[in-house]
Amino acid sequence: MSLRALASCILFVALVSLFSSNFSNAFNITKILSNTSDFGSFNNLLTQTGLAETINSRSSLTILALDNGAVGSLQGKSKDEVQRILMNHVILDYIDQNKLKNLPNKTTTMTTLLQASGVAQQGQGFLNVTVSGNDILFGSEVKDSPLAARFVKSVYAEPYNISVLQISQSIVAPGISAPAPYTTLPPPPPSKKAPAPSPMTRKAPPPAPTKGEEDSGNTAAAPGPADSGAPCALGSGAAVAVLMGLVLNFVGL
Ligand SMILES: *[C@@H]1O[C@H](CO)[C@@H](O)[C@H](O)[C@H]1NC(C)=O
Ligand SMILES: *[C@@H]1O[C@H](CO)[C@@H](O)[C@H](O)[C@H]1NC(C)=O
Ligand SMILES: *[C@@H]1O[C@H](CO)[C@@H](O)[C@H](O)[C@H]1NC(C)=O
Ligand SMILES: *[C@@H]1O[C@H](CO)[C@@H](O)[C@H](O)[C@H]1NC(C)=O
Ligand SMILES: *[C@@H]1O[C@H](CO)[C@@H](O)[C@H](O)[C@H]1NC(C)=O
Repeated sequence: MSLRALASCILFVALVSLFSSNFSNAFNITKILSNTSDFGSFNNLLTQTGLAETINSRSSLTILALDNGAVGSLQGKSKDEVQRILMNHVILDYIDQNKLKNLPNKTTTMTTLLQASGVAQQGQGFLNVTVSGNDILFGSEVKDSPLAARFVKSVYAEPYNISVLQISQSIVAPGISAPAPYTTLPPPPPSKKAPAPSPMTRKAPPPAPTKGEEDSGNTAAAPGPADSGAPCALGSGAAVAVLMGLVLNFVGL
């Protein structure tokens, strides 16, 4: 590889690292949830559906988490369906236990990631949260849905970035099992904070062959950096290591 190609590759890798470290959030939902074993299955589902990454790219969120027992109800559903259901467990606002217990009118509507994804129909993207006696109940805003999920406890709170609340059972909005009119999820709206982070803005450069999970569902087939050149077409970690070695060698001469 030519020196020029090497130099531009180093610059590219360095810039990308700088960029992604500057813009990475203070929290990592995978790490937060792995603190207790109770949420292991839920945590795996967030990773498998690509939602963990989406969550980490945002701020001011509340995750309605299910423990290993409650996650069972999602078994046997397709990955797309699980993704849609779980997007309804991500509220686009920071709500902690205190805020929940002091809802002004004892009832409110909350907007979820499903709404932001653009695939929600007829209220599917909204939750109804209602204080009832000593319970705080959650349900889909779709007409006639049950308020069946109960607030259990606060799992984690990092004001005003992320709150994780445990609820007793999954919230499955009526009609959510059927795919939306489109057969695949549409790309996220280009403006605002899009739910699916684009690899260009969030991730290290090369769209290295992944485990085959990420190319279905929510990633909108965003093209990789096409002309980053062959030297960069390694995993970024490997590329950095190799390049650092070369640079050190070069400097050492
Ligand atoms: C919340 O996020 C902001 C920006 O990402 C960060 O500066 C701040 O430290 C975070 N808060 C906590 C408690 O980590
Ligand atoms: C988040 O935490 C998990 C588990 O500790 C780790 O494997 C993963 O690399 C972290 N992700 C980021 C973006 O730091
Ligand atoms: C993990 O749990 C410990 C003890 O319960 C707590 O001190 C710590 O803050 C927790 N960390 C995270 C990331 O939740
Ligand atoms: C509470 O209810 C009153 C009267 O119905 C209404 O005017 C007000 O907007 C409600 N507040 C909230 C936060 O929903
Ligand atoms: C939530 O559902 C309850 C019960 O169906 C209803 O009385 C209440 O008005 C709903 N709240 C909102 C904000 O729509």
